[in-house]
Amino acid sequence: MRKKIVAGNWKMNLDHAAGLQLYAEILKLINEDVKGQQKVVVCPPSIHITSLTQLSIGNSIVALGAQNCHQFNSGAYTGEISASMLKSSGADYVIIGHSERRAFFAEDDLVLAQKLDVVLENGLIPIFCIGETLEQRNAGTHFDIIESQLKEAAFHLDGSQFQKLVLAYEPVWAIGTGLTATPEQAQEVHAFIRAKVAEHYSSDLANELSILYGGSCNPKNAAELFSQKDIDGGLIGGASLKARDFIDIIKVFNS
Ligand code: 13P
Repeated sequence: MRKKIVAGNWKMNLDHAAGLQLYAEILKLINEDVKGQQKVVVCPPSIHITSLTQLSIGNSIVALGAQNCHQFNSGAYTGEISASMLKSSGADYVIIGHSERRAFFAEDDLVLAQKLDVVLENGLIPIFCIGETLEQRNAGTHFDIIESQLKEAAFHLDGSQFQKLVLAYEPVWAIGTGLTATPEQAQEVHAFIRAKVAEHYSSDLANELSILYGGSCNPKNAAELFSQKDIDGGLIGGASLKARDFIDIIKVFNS
């Protein structure tokens, strides 16, 4: 059975006190309202991870993740944070390849491949994001783009490494725009991703892979998106900053 996962990406929002408050609220609502096998991952700004870890000790549903890390383990890279530092702060996951990192920080396939390597070496789980821009979708090249993002940054991994990944399909045109991919559009791409993974590795590995959808996911559209055969949960931006909305999305998987 593939893991159902709802991850929240707080992006560059919330100071320390506000982060602690939101996380405490999320934990409280999880205890009250979440009844299932789903996994919840909260990805705050890295500087909050240590304090948030203290709040969730003993909670087996929630894990913490970072939004990025450097591609090397240590060295003279002023301002950067390594995967081993994140691990030692209490993170279990790291988002890699978010479209905002690709666009604003010029992260290309080569550097993302190195980041996936270093994250795995340090025993963290990468949430690897792929997705096309509006121009690429309008030009009908979205499948080619997604295939190339997978091949160039992730398919160098061997099967035992790749099976540790969580993938997230985030169409760039749906991020923060209120414009969600329809469940059919999202399902079509998720099925394509799974087929490419099956082709490169094996259908067993592809069947076990959790593929999340991200892009203007909210409590109103989550149930329909998550009911699609190849959608195993979501990577949530804006709605993960409101405890009630985030929990209502997680509750889609309540049993
Ligand atoms: P929104 O849910 O705000 O569209 O953001 C999605 C996202 O980028 C999650 O990583």
